[in-house]
Amino acid sequence: MESDIKAKISELTSLSTLPIIISRLLKVISNENATLEELIEVIRHDQSLASRVVSIANSPFFGYPGRINSLEQAVLMLGFNIVKSISLGISIFTMFPIPYKKMKKMWAHAFNVATLSALFSHKFSPKNSSICFLSGLLHDIGRAVLLTIADSTQLSPFIQQQLHLKSAKLLELETKVFRCNHIEAGTWFLERLFFPQEIILPVYYHHHLDRPTYSKISHRDIVSTIFLCEGLIDILTNESPNDGEWGENHILLMESLGIYEKDLDEIKQKFLSMLETTNVFFNLS
Ligand SMILES: [Fe+2]
Ligand SMILES: [Fe+2]
Repeated sequence: MESDIKAKISELTSLSTLPIIISRLLKVISNENATLEELIEVIRHDQSLASRVVSIANSPFFGYPGRINSLEQAVLMLGFNIVKSISLGISIFTMFPIPYKKMKKMWAHAFNVATLSALFSHKFSPKNSSICFLSGLLHDIGRAVLLTIADSTQLSPFIQQQLHLKSAKLLELETKVFRCNHIEAGTWFLERLFFPQEIILPVYYHHHLDRPTYSKISHRDIVSTIFLCEGLIDILTNESPNDGEWGENHILLMESLGIYEKDLDEIKQKFLSMLETTNVFFNLS
């Protein structure tokens, strides 16, 4: 990655520009002994974040639509880890000055990948569910980073050309225009914020696992879940910010993980039964 791009991303994540809510959340989250009360206290200081957390907690995915009325109730019903993931995901998304309509679509794609990843994880590796959910929410954060640091002469041709481009073709265009793609931008951004490897690695590998380093990394169960779900969303929904592309590598991965068609169908059905209400929830239909 070019050094001027790294400098722009560093600027975005520097303490002087980083929203105070994110540094407070990161502090609570990185403290192993942090309590529920401390988390609630931090979120409560930002009223718009608090109401968004309650709103997301009421989304169909969590199974309590319309029944959660307060932050305390959200924490009680969903637990510390999920509320932590939701609040961090929302506050990182809202730090980017991107037009509401575009942001809403990016957020819905992120939420769909997060939902599907958590469903997968729930079936195959339940202890990783909340990490998979947060990795899913943040997997394309590099796209928001690129849109924010680009100058206007790069932006308008890019917006047109990137429509309907997926995976390798999208990464190629980003590299051509910005000299950096959204995988590199997202990885660097999260590294600068001191996110743990279990979140950064899935972001780095979410479009291809066939890099020479993949066999040596840790957290491969989380990494492969996000890769698989980014691909699957391509065949399950047709929203325009979808940038995954289902292909041979996803099928090979499923075989190597011992995931059968019937397991996949069960997860697909669960996801699709929630999708319509999720779309209404995000006001997308
Ligand atoms: Fe992506
Ligand atoms: Fe994506």
